[in-house]
Amino acid sequence: MSRGWLVLTGATSALGRAVAERWTTAGHGPVLGLSRRPERLPPAVREGLAVDLRRPPEAAERLGAWARAQSDPVAGLVHAAGVVYADRADRTTWDEWEQTFTVNLGAALWLARVLLPHFAPGASVVLVSSCDAWASPRPGPDAAYGASKAGVEALTRHLAVEWGPAGVRVNCVRPGPMPGGMGVADADAWTAATVLRGLVEPAEVADVVLFLLSADSRGMTGQCLAVDRGFGLAYGPAGGGDPAVGYNGTN
Ligand SMILES: NC(=O)c1ccc[n+]([C@@H]2O[C@H](COP(=O)([O-])OP(=O)(O)OC[C@H]3O[C@@H](n4cnc5c(N)ncnc54)[C@H](OP(=O)(O)O)[C@@H]3O)[C@@H](O)[C@H]2O)c1
Repeated sequence: MSRGWLVLTGATSALGRAVAERWTTAGHGPVLGLSRRPERLPPAVREGLAVDLRRPPEAAERLGAWARAQSDPVAGLVHAAGVVYADRADRTTWDEWEQTFTVNLGAALWLARVLLPHFAPGASVVLVSSCDAWASPRPGPDAAYGASKAGVEALTRHLAVEWGPAGVRVNCVRPGPMPGGMGVADADAWTAATVLRGLVEPAEVADVVLFLLSADSRGMTGQCLAVDRGFGLAYGPAGGGDPAVGYNGTN
């Protein structure tokens, strides 16, 4: 059990909510939720910090000031915030590209590094990738999103190497298609593409996030765990599947 803070972005998303609930139910320390709309943070979040992750340096400055004011250290960081514009590559605007990389990838680094002096011994950072880091669903309306998530996986490995000697572990989860949120355009098609039939429940991903935050995974760093009901077996690194599926694009 950890008494330190959990810093959580995307705390208003279904995944973020599930992580906050599990963390507090397990008796760990309090949760700080980062959101553009802190009034919508769930009850499991003790404190909210209003930030817009389209501007990571500003958000990091606010988070650093918050961390310096705490008597307890930070036990973990989970970067669950994410955006997808669900646009075809040939129609993606520069603004969409930049915002996707800024929120999904840039914010992960800026927030994690400002917390570096405040991490407790054995602290754990968990980033959130996506099955789209490996392949694009047809008709492929998410090149920027997939590329940003591939960057998240690379960042995971680089930070793990840099920060491991300081006792900070960095891992990530690679969820498959989840209901709600940025969601899926055709749930039946996505479901048919999974081995364990069905969309991935945010709670299933949250359980793995909690494992990566906990001492049970103390021997692991730089790893990315797929929680995708087997979607990636046909559709990920091994290739083969081509369901005509896509995201709604809710941003
Ligand atoms: N849904 C899926 O099928 C799926 C699959 C694989 C991976 N993922 C990943 O899982 C995570 C959660 O996905 P979801 O579908 O549950 O997301 P979602 O419901 O669309 O929520 C997005 C979250 O990101 C935060 N966010 C977005 N832009 C932000 C900004 N500019 N500043 C601060 N926060 C911002 C939102 O916070 P506020 O609105 O409160 O500011 C919200 O909590 C994301 O990283 C996503 O890429 C999702």
